[in-house]
Amino acid sequence: MKCRTCGQKAAVNMRQHKLALCKEHYLEWVPAQVERFIKKYRMFSREEKILVAVSGGKDSLSLWDILHRLGYVADGLYICLGIDEGIAYSSESQRLTEEFAAERGLKLQIVNIQQQTGMTIPELSTATMRGRGKSCSVCGLVKRHEMNRIARDFGYAVLATGHNLDDEAAVLFGNTLTWSGEYLLRQGPVLPATPGLARKVKPLCRLYEREMLAYALLRGIEYIYDECPFAVGATSIYYKELLNELENNRPGAKLSFYLSFLEARKKGLFAEPEAIQQELHPCPNCGQPTSAPGLCAFCKMTSKANTV
Ligand code: AMP
Ligand code: FES
Ligand code: ZN
Ligand code: ZN
Repeated sequence: MKCRTCGQKAAVNMRQHKLALCKEHYLEWVPAQVERFIKKYRMFSREEKILVAVSGGKDSLSLWDILHRLGYVADGLYICLGIDEGIAYSSESQRLTEEFAAERGLKLQIVNIQQQTGMTIPELSTATMRGRGKSCSVCGLVKRHEMNRIARDFGYAVLATGHNLDDEAAVLFGNTLTWSGEYLLRQGPVLPATPGLARKVKPLCRLYEREMLAYALLRGIEYIYDECPFAVGATSIYYKELLNELENNRPGAKLSFYLSFLEARKKGLFAEPEAIQQELHPCPNCGQPTSAPGLCAFCKMTSKANTV
């Protein structure tokens, strides 16, 4: 297999794009693709202040690297979840993220959930759910809330996450199985800003997980290999396996599933009837917009955890 650009030996072969590239040209191709998606979906400009949520994994560290290479002003946000039993998942990912930032002179904000709420994620989920196994939903809620809070408090115009195509296709698949209209309506490369919430963007949403892995490895980015220990057996992983099987037989199927969805959404297939549009009001405790009566889900959860 030869590089399409220079004819040298290819390092990455992408059957889905009928494209093979050598290391040098692959490391140019990925940022060029990301730049194309940033423009196409009008994610942000070089004048806007960007906050990248970095987990220490290959996707978000690569995203930060790419934005930096493309000349965007992007600070990082690492949320320490306190998941450190068995394997030192949180402390190791924090170390790698801090090293990444220090080596490149990038600004990193760190939020520690234990300091913020009095408990780690495993403790919060035990206190509120009275049992294990529900950490991921508590964790998702906490991460969303803290990302929104930092973006708002520090005046970032936009919040970027490292979700890749495999992540997006798996979520889409799950929401399609249940035809969850409200979620389908909100899923996309850009979620516009609303009063009190920064715009959210996913610049890697059209890049395969495998492409991001190749980027991180060829670029020599040190990232945490381990998955979160609570992710074992998650439905999203099962959906990813199913979609990989489909992709193996029909290269490009994953991308086409996602892109056809975006087209259908653009045509208004998932438009929300006005009757079910939710009224949002600021949470009396933290000020973030919520549809729940009274406290937002985060404040309700943390106050419950601290009173049990
Ligand atoms: P995940 O939900 O773990 O697949 O992560 C999706 C995206 O959320 C990542 O690509 C990051 O941008 C962001 N993210 C996940 N965990 C963290 C964390 N602990 N701190 C900051 N951002 C995170
Ligand atoms: Fe949050 Fe696994 S990363 S529970
Ligand atoms: Zn080449
Ligand atoms: Zn609140």
